Amino acid sequence: MIQVKSLQNLGPMLEKGRIWPGIENIFFESSVKKKFESPEERAAFKFKYLDWYAKNHSGCFFVALDQDQKVQGYICGTPNTSLHPELFEMHPWFQKISHLFATFPAHLHINCAEKARGLGLGSTLLNVFENTIHSQGIIGAHLVTSPDSRNVGFYEKNGYKFSQTVEWKTASLLFMGKTL
Ligand SMILES: CC(C)(COP(=O)(O)OP(=O)(O)OC[C@H]1O[C@@H](n2cnc3c(N)ncnc32)[C@H](O)[C@@H]1OP(=O)(O)O)[C@@H](O)C(=O)NCCC(=O)NCCS
Repeated sequence: MIQVKSLQNLGPMLEKGRIWPGIENIFFESSVKKKFESPEERAAFKFKYLDWYAKNHSGCFFVALDQDQKVQGYICGTPNTSLHPELFEMHPWFQKISHLFATFPAHLHINCAEKARGLGLGSTLLNVFENTIHSQGIIGAHLVTSPDSRNVGFYEKNGYKFSQTVEWKTASLLFMGKTL
């Protein structure tokens, strides 16, 4: 049986100490970027896409745990992206999408363990995240993916009907938004 818990409510630090490495494993396993020039570059990459959210928004950082308390997936994000200038500094490409933040204020990242994919877990995590931020008065959520990624179908199925492709340097990014 899978249980979804927020990082904030995980309780004793010991439990959090066991769970955090599981989250990091899924983060690197799911990441498209596999090679890093140095340990510092690897740490900075993880900070931008994972640690920052644990540090600043542990109340909307949710972890899916199996019966052995093993992490099977997580979702993290910020309810109101515009309130965080440091995110704009870490992600300069935000300037290309920031005009959409009034309609879709929340920014999210989600990943599931390879063996746990395609079983509905991602949809469950998305629901928990959306319900949490909606109860705080947030009117919409967004994520940024790649136009040719398999996960596009996952977000469409979950109601992310708004999409816009933006070019950043040599890459195409796909902004997807949902009204809550
Ligand atoms: C995207 C992801 C979070 C969805 O969670 P999930 O529990 O697998 O999703 P659900 O079971 O609720 O929905 C199934 C849909 O998820 C997507 N999906 C399933 N396996 C996937 C995979 N290995 N990679 C990317 N998307 C996948 C597909 O759209 C799938 O629908 P389909 O089978 O009709 O193609 C999860 O598959 C995952 O972690 N994928 C790899 C990392 C990733 O793409 N993260 C999002 C970055 S923006």
